[in-house]
Amino acid sequence: MLLCGNAQEINKTEANKLRTILEVFFNPVETDTQFLLANKNKINLGRHLFFDERLSTNATISCNSCHNLNAFGTNGSYYLDKHKNGKWFRDVPTLYNVHTLSIYNADGGINTLKDKINDAFSNGFEMHVTDKNVIIDRLKAIEDYRILFNQVYVDDTNAVSFNNIVDALQTFIKGLTTPAPIDKFIKGDNKALSKMQIQGGHIFNDKNCYSCHTGSNIGGQMIQKLGVEFNWPNQKDLGYYNIERNPDYKMFFRVSPLRNVEKTSPYFHDRTSKNLEEAVQWMGKYERGLDISASEAKKISAFLKGLTGEIPSVYIKKPTKLVN
Ligand code: HEC
Ligand code: HEC
Repeated sequence: MLLCGNAQEINKTEANKLRTILEVFFNPVETDTQFLLANKNKINLGRHLFFDERLSTNATISCNSCHNLNAFGTNGSYYLDKHKNGKWFRDVPTLYNVHTLSIYNADGGINTLKDKINDAFSNGFEMHVTDKNVIIDRLKAIEDYRILFNQVYVDDTNAVSFNNIVDALQTFIKGLTTPAPIDKFIKGDNKALSKMQIQGGHIFNDKNCYSCHTGSNIGGQMIQKLGVEFNWPNQKDLGYYNIERNPDYKMFFRVSPLRNVEKTSPYFHDRTSKNLEEAVQWMGKYERGLDISASEAKKISAFLKGLTGEIPSVYIKKPTKLVN
């Protein structure tokens, strides 16, 4: 009994120590029920749009074709099959919790969610819409959409507009949150993380992973060189250099947000690792010049699994018909 009590004491000390560290650079994610309620109709419209293939020129793909919300907002298969074009191509990132990010895309070249959604329509790797009017005219011709848009944008004489499409999608995406065990932990619940996860959190700190992976998504706040200590093997995509042609920015990428990372394999912009423990070891090598042992990688990965939240299955339910 005495031993058991001591072990618990040690756990409590370790847990409290980790919380103090986390509090410095990490903010919990919450589901904002007031926001969801206040924006109910707009979110409903955004949900329809998210799943609607008529938003692409040939009416063949929707946002959900790639950002499959049932698969944690990612699923590179379509992207890989149809959009290679002989160019480099990037991993499809999750859309959960993205409204808290400071920068978007693997190269970190976009600063707001609104600009990113605009970009998702126009760029050749996502919706590839070359003429927005085709989409707007198509939606305008659908009576149910006219009704929905006019309900939400009451004072707008031109309710079915591209700005409003982006606005409704943005509002829907803002509601895609997945609170996780780590959020309970930081609010004081020591039992939310296992002993191994707490150990892993300390190793994550000792290896200085926090210096880049900060913020409420443990990443997504800055660009950093991929391959600080050794050259990253795949140099086809030069990252932020594609945005700003300054040689100093070659191989600079957005520090990946790590919420739900357990569920978003494969890893890295170029999808070179399928296994989380391997990805952790590569980070140790390329970013820190450290050999992370298999047992340490396992513990760090266990800690990262504490960032896995629950998919909001009702919120992301595909509408069965256009107007509910
Ligand atoms: C054909 C696949 C595909 C489709 C369809 C698609 N996306 Fe994407 N999306 C991607 C890829 C790939 C990226 C990463 C691009 C990069 O890193 O440069 C991305 C990135 C994003 C991001 C940035 C996430 C982050 O962490 O930086 C948002 C937001 C986004 N897409 C929203 C949308 C919306 C909204 C739609 C529908 C209008 C859409 N996407 C349709 C493949 C797709
Ligand atoms: C110098 C900054 C830096 C440090 C330190 C760092 N990382 Fe990273 N990390 C990055 C960047 C940049 C990426 C994105 C690479 C890409 O998109 O190819 C990344 C990506 C990742 C990924 C892949 C996520 C995904 O969804 O693809 C994991 C896992 C990861 N880091 C874990 C760690 C761990 C564990 C440590 C500590 C051993 C660590 N990182 C230290 C900059 C850093």
